[in-house]
Amino acid sequence: MGYAPQAWIDHAALQHNLKRAKRAAKGSRIWAVVKADGYGHGMLRVASSLGDADGLAVARLDEALQLREAKIQAPILVMGGCHTGEQFHIASEAALQIAIHDSAQLRCLSETRLNPQSLKLWIKVDTGMHRLGFATSEITRVVAALQANPAVAELNLMTHLANADDRSDPATKTQCKLFESLDHSHFDACSIANSAGLLGHPASLSDWVRPGIMLYGVTPFAESSAEDEGLLPVMTLQSRVIAVKQCRKGDRVGYGGTYTCPAAMPVAVIAIGYGDGYPRHAPSGTPVVVSGRRLPLVGRVSMDMISVDARTLPGVKVGDEAILWGRGLPVEEIAGAAGTIGYELLCGVKRRVEFVDIGPGEEA
Ligand SMILES: Cc1ncc(COP(=O)(O)O)c(C=O)c1O
Repeated sequence: MGYAPQAWIDHAALQHNLKRAKRAAKGSRIWAVVKADGYGHGMLRVASSLGDADGLAVARLDEALQLREAKIQAPILVMGGCHTGEQFHIASEAALQIAIHDSAQLRCLSETRLNPQSLKLWIKVDTGMHRLGFATSEITRVVAALQANPAVAELNLMTHLANADDRSDPATKTQCKLFESLDHSHFDACSIANSAGLLGHPASLSDWVRPGIMLYGVTPFAESSAEDEGLLPVMTLQSRVIAVKQCRKGDRVGYGGTYTCPAAMPVAVIAIGYGDGYPRHAPSGTPVVVSGRRLPLVGRVSMDMISVDARTLPGVKVGDEAILWGRGLPVEEIAGAAGTIGYELLCGVKRRVEFVDIGPGEEA
């Protein structure tokens, strides 16, 4: 078999982060966001440890149906909504809550005959993100159309924050104020906050909050670490050293020879690459923790391998453990080095990596 990477999924950390979200939510109910295969952790795997959330939120109908097929009976919100009559039928039969964000969906719903009182809807209003959502000026018309539809059992209102991860951006307050200024008398419940709203903007707390990234132990903010926010990493991406090369001064390492050894030095080769989801753009210097010591990556990331400068770990040998991110090495740091965000790295871990569940009280 040889050495191959593993993604350890720490369920105790996930539950800890959910508790952290609950404390910050101050009584608001929690949609735990598990879209994109649970931010790359495995949607069913993470859902199994999020039973204390009030519901699960996904982007697409097929994600919601996978949850239902797995016998998950919790409330499920499909944030991208339905686009065909058949999808509305399926959603109502599976007791899914559905966001509705544009006129084409509204029209489609009005042309679809569903059982009376079978659909809980979330009208999405655009308060400044300019991605999904009805304009505030359209809400009265949308509410009237939906109130006249016998299939609608419940009407709720939601919006999404565009830049809450920048605590100093006044746009978040403006979005919250605009949301609050709407007539709420038609709605059973409201929802604004993502993780950054929940942790950084009390004005965005309402009946429901929708944290995603914080549940996976990643800070939404640039200026505070996950540890500062009381979060624990859920995924640790781990692999092993598969070769140690004794390079000479002037040797060039890897494709394109982009790194030149400044001295005679050991270079350790680790079984992880962009074919596993490690970012190809991670430059020389990106940290990798080998046997507990931070070593800098050298040369280009290959499909299945990376190399590290092992001068500070002279005893390095084949089989030594390497942590690419997670425990002791925040994914945010690797993302920063590679010019991306933790979300993308977590979502990008490939299925050829072996996923290993670590239950509460268990060790990897
Ligand atoms: C509508 C909506 N709500 C909530 C979230 C969760 O956001 P975050 O992962 O930043 O907490 C997302 C994620 O992109 C989203 O699209």
